[in-house]
Amino acid sequence: MRDRESQFESMYRLLCDHMAEGFCILEMLFDDAGNPRDGILREVNRAYEVQTGRVQALGRRISELAPELQDAWVQAFGGVARTGEPARFEQRAATPGKWYEVHAFRWGAPEQRLVGVLFNDVTQRKLDELMAQSVLEYAIIVLDPEGLVRSWNAGAQRIKGYTREEILGRPLSVFYTPEDIAADRPAQVLALAAQSGRFDEEGWRVRRDGSRFWASVSVAPLHDADGKLQGFVKVTRDLSERRRTDEALHAEIQERVRAQEELRALNNRLEAEVAGRTADLTRANADLVEAKERLRELSSRLIRAQEQERGRIARDFHDGTGQFLTLLRMRLAELSRDVGEARVQPSTELVKQVIDHTRQLGLILRPIALDDLGLDAALEAMVEQQASLAGWSGTYEGGIGDRRFADEVETACFRIAQEALTNAARYAGASKISVSLAIEGDQLVLQVADDGRGFDVERYRAPEVRSSHFGLVSMEERAALLGARLAIDSAPGQGTRVTAHFPLRGS
Ligand SMILES: Nc1ncnc2c1ncn2[C@@H]1O[C@H](COP(=O)(O)OP(=O)(O)OP(=O)(O)O)[C@@H](O)[C@H]1O
Ligand SMILES: [Mg+2]
Repeated sequence: MRDRESQFESMYRLLCDHMAEGFCILEMLFDDAGNPRDGILREVNRAYEVQTGRVQALGRRISELAPELQDAWVQAFGGVARTGEPARFEQRAATPGKWYEVHAFRWGAPEQRLVGVLFNDVTQRKLDELMAQSVLEYAIIVLDPEGLVRSWNAGAQRIKGYTREEILGRPLSVFYTPEDIAADRPAQVLALAAQSGRFDEEGWRVRRDGSRFWASVSVAPLHDADGKLQGFVKVTRDLSERRRTDEALHAEIQERVRAQEELRALNNRLEAEVAGRTADLTRANADLVEAKERLRELSSRLIRAQEQERGRIARDFHDGTGQFLTLLRMRLAELSRDVGEARVQPSTELVKQVIDHTRQLGLILRPIALDDLGLDAALEAMVEQQASLAGWSGTYEGGIGDRRFADEVETACFRIAQEALTNAARYAGASKISVSLAIEGDQLVLQVADDGRGFDVERYRAPEVRSSHFGLVSMEERAALLGARLAIDSAPGQGTRVTAHFPLRGS
């Protein structure tokens, strides 16, 4: 008997020491009221030391070895010792920081108050589980090889709406749309994942309440060490929000594109309108230029006609009226021989005055000298004549000799000098007026200057003033018709200088 017992004990030892599970026997201690107080380690196996890292634990108390667990473990093990009801639980021990799956049962006779404890380090599994439970963004589901749900995390519950109890054991197809189910999609997905080691897609999936969501799905097969298919892990993300944002973005882009197109169309219409208006304007401008050209042509023709008419009248005065008057004076001289000087003298005087007047008129109209002798002689004669008539001192400085120019240049030059001289004589109150004519480079330069009171030239540029004072306007007009530059420099109290530059190219 003794032999058998010791044989049994050595077998038990052997078994204990070769078990992968940790094993210990605790003697539970109770207080007077019968409440569990502590436990003393009476037996430990090798795995106990390996799993807990505690050596020489034999004879020590729970309160020493794991003070933080004293309450939980002492209560649990005390209960087992007292009632004989085995207990199973999972618990984390802060020292050595591991999760244990614990199985406690009564050992020996009740009065011995011994409890046998089998335990296993399940830290890895526990952490995996905790991770799967706490990840809310992803539905992490483990399927068996047949596609039935075997594990379900908190994320899966959040995204798909089923509780763990509701879904465990149900097939993968519950997450698919009727169309996908009809097309045998769930089985295809698992087959594809098993075949290629992984399967990813985006698509519509169905929640518990029947609503659909846009999901990103990854399925990977799980193989054991022998490469045998053990199931699948499936990770699903709800992309509805992203899809909604994408769609909103897409809609916004489309809206912008549409707005841009509208803008472009508007722009095109505007451009067409502007082009139309520009064409109108160009036409109107061309009309204006043409009208201006016609006016200039007309003005030039008018001036020419006027000059011709004046010249004709001047010649008429000179050749006709002048000759007749000369004849009349000769007749009066003859008559004075018959009737006496005294009787004819008043008539002779009158005729002399008429002759002077006619000559002056002729000069104003168009000096014969301009046509016959040229600009230099005509200007000199005019200055002399006007000065002697009006009583101011006039000088003429000519620098062109008997050189001749185009008829319209000579005429314009003479007329501008005539008007400037007349104005100076009329308004300046000048004591001295000087006229000069010179060639500078390829320009004929006329200058009429007085030392009189001067005037505000700008005042006479206003249209309402110009309509009753033609002198300055016509000077400018004549110059412009020949492409000449006319400058009137004057200021009150400063005298006046009129300068004209005539281009001589081709004259
Ligand atoms: N040399 C000058 N000195 C002072 N004032 C002048 C002189 N030249 C012109 N003016 C002033 O400029 C005004 C305009 O001259 P403009 O020759 O255009 O007209 P007008 O002589 O008044 O009339 P029109 O020449 O048509 O007979 C004159 O009325 C005069 O007041
Ligand atoms: Mg004038």
